[in-house]
Amino acid sequence: MNRVCEILGITKPVIQAPMAWITSPELVAAVSNAGGLGVLGTSAGSTEMVKTIEETVEEMRKAIHKTQELTEKPFGINVFPSDMDPYGFSKAMIALAKEEGVNVLVAAGSIAPDEYSQWKKDGFIIIAREQNPSVHGAIEAEKGGADIIVATGCDEGGCMPSLTTGTTAATALLSEYVSIPVLAAGGIVNEKMARAAKVVGAEGVFVGTRFILSKECRAADIVKKDIMDTHPDDFLVYTQQDGFARWRTTPHKYGKEGVEANKRGDMNPPQGSFFHGMYKGDLDAGVNTVSNLSSLIKSIDSCKDIVNELAAPFAE
Ligand SMILES: Cc1cc2nc3c(=O)[nH]c(=O)nc-3n(C[C@H](O)[C@H](O)[C@H](O)COP(=O)(O)O)c2cc1C
Repeated sequence: MNRVCEILGITKPVIQAPMAWITSPELVAAVSNAGGLGVLGTSAGSTEMVKTIEETVEEMRKAIHKTQELTEKPFGINVFPSDMDPYGFSKAMIALAKEEGVNVLVAAGSIAPDEYSQWKKDGFIIIAREQNPSVHGAIEAEKGGADIIVATGCDEGGCMPSLTTGTTAATALLSEYVSIPVLAAGGIVNEKMARAAKVVGAEGVFVGTRFILSKECRAADIVKKDIMDTHPDDFLVYTQQDGFARWRTTPHKYGKEGVEANKRGDMNPPQGSFFHGMYKGDLDAGVNTVSNLSSLIKSIDSCKDIVNELAAPFAE
């Protein structure tokens, strides 16, 4: 049996990557019901911006309950280690996950072996995703008790690694040095890319962009259309957030200004609001970020069809 499926109690090694506002209970449940693993992102269930930890926890509690109504299958929740969680949002989310019986943590950002050991004692399954994937980090994560590692290449959407390592290189390297299974992330947009990931050592895939262009994703229709309409040569990358970068689709306010800011030596330009941009659909209000391979996605499909397509190479 596929080790990723065995560890997570799923039937297809396709993990839907957390993407903040747009990874709603409906999307998460659809992926889990299709045999993959859905993952609630931060602000996953909210339709309004809330500020305090208490409000955020209550919104997430509602999102967890809604997801549990829609699926009896396992699903996960996105957290960050404490060095990336200065206000304690993730700490509160982990306590909530324990309370509500969500037992998979997708821990993104830095590698935190000491925290993993505690989470393991608390009964969690840990999927560790270092923002800038390194062999050292993967080995430390495995020692700390992580169950699965994500190898993210700079082909990804969202806050991509500042190192110029592509998805195949990251996957090939990390899978060579750890004995736990590795998921490939970044540009896994169709069966061909999933197959390539398998060839270089992935035992499953961790997928964001392709699920944005799913029927169940609540990203605004105008955002989906913009992604579908963007010619591959029109993608631009700009650097921000301490060296992390973002691919963006054709010129809208923040992406365009970000590129100009980079040319002037400003490496931390504003990116606008995810809530007003990708979720609500005001393209000039926030950066529209997806994988640089999004033009290979030809249609908006159901999560079931997407999971089946991306899982196919791993069944062979
Ligand atoms: C729009 C968007 C938002 C994202 N938001 C988050 C997030 O809130 N937390 C996180 O850990 N990763 C986030 N990511 C990264 C994804 O979890 C994942 O690593 C990435 O989407 C995989 O690459 P792909 O988009 O090419 O499939 C985001 C990615 C995208 C495209």
